Amino acid sequence: MIAVAGFNTAIDKALEVEALHVGAVNRARTVRAWPGGKGLHVALTIAALGEPVQLVGLIDCTHAADFEAFLSERRVEFLGVEAGAEIRTNLTLRDAEGRVTELLEPGPQLEPATTQRLRSVFSEAARQASIAVVSGSVPRGMAESTYRDLVALLEAGSRRCLLDASGPLLRQGVLARPFLVKPNHDEAEALLGHKIDGVDAALQALSAIGALGPSRVVLTLGREGAVALWEGRRCRIVAPAVEARNPVGSGDCFVGGLAVALKRGLAPAEVLRLATACGAANALTTEIGILRAEDVAALAPKVEVEWIDAQP
Ligand SMILES: Nc1ncnc2c1ncn2[C@@H]1O[C@H](COP(=O)(O)OP(=O)(O)OP(=O)(O)O)[C@@H](O)[C@H]1O
Ligand SMILES: [Mg+2]
Repeated sequence: MIAVAGFNTAIDKALEVEALHVGAVNRARTVRAWPGGKGLHVALTIAALGEPVQLVGLIDCTHAADFEAFLSERRVEFLGVEAGAEIRTNLTLRDAEGRVTELLEPGPQLEPATTQRLRSVFSEAARQASIAVVSGSVPRGMAESTYRDLVALLEAGSRRCLLDASGPLLRQGVLARPFLVKPNHDEAEALLGHKIDGVDAALQALSAIGALGPSRVVLTLGREGAVALWEGRRCRIVAPAVEARNPVGSGDCFVGGLAVALKRGLAPAEVLRLATACGAANALTTEIGILRAEDVAALAPKVEVEWIDAQP
């Protein structure tokens, strides 16, 4: 079992408009809505690759049945915690020229009892799991130390934790020495407080991030692939070239691939290969954070992993 904390669940709603006029009435041509949130994408990836997964996140009574149906159909076990108010909707407006405008709701302000329930449901699930993933933002009312506390608790119980977050959640989370942290380029820049220009600079950044606490660091660089620090050795991963339709959510799918490969006990280069294939497979589809296992299988042999440091 892999346990995923995706506390800040969302409804992703996509509207197509002819043109977007600020301050005027805009009529949508089409509308689609489905369950979203970064942790939810991680969990969907894990399930698509065939591993059992539990997802812990907020839910409300209006959407509970839809989430349950959507996730159970895709073999994700959803441990929803009632928010006491409506969960957030993330609105994407696409105009005829393909330009995308996003409107993100802040989501509900949680009572302390609800934040405590999210933490306890997740730590209980993670204690039964072989790998724990903490992913994305947390709802309003949850402390910036949330991931740091959870990772410290779980790693103390020998549970391997994967951390994918930004801002203060990431800054604090790395201090708890997670098994692995996966910042993207911008998150790594913000964490270190300086620019990271090019692959050589990214390779240097790995050591600086590793020095903060995590044992393994994977810094993803979008279509460029990634660089990784794995038990003291660095490598460069080249992603396969694909005709990208929508790379949003590729990092989430990458993390799902990491979790699955680690659970299966694969060698480091194979862990990174599977994760990179998952990121590329997500970019192939228009949906966010949804991939096809057959695309992953076809892309994995095309991933290149080059070790930079010699084996000790
Ligand atoms: N256009 C692309 N072509 C091929 N592979 C891609 C592409 N975009 C992303 N990937 C793969 O997915 C991985 C993660 O992408 P990225 O660095 O954009 O993550 P991210 O910014 O965390 O994404 P998100 O937070 O939206 O999920 C990359 O390391 C790469 O392997
Ligand atoms: Mg990301």
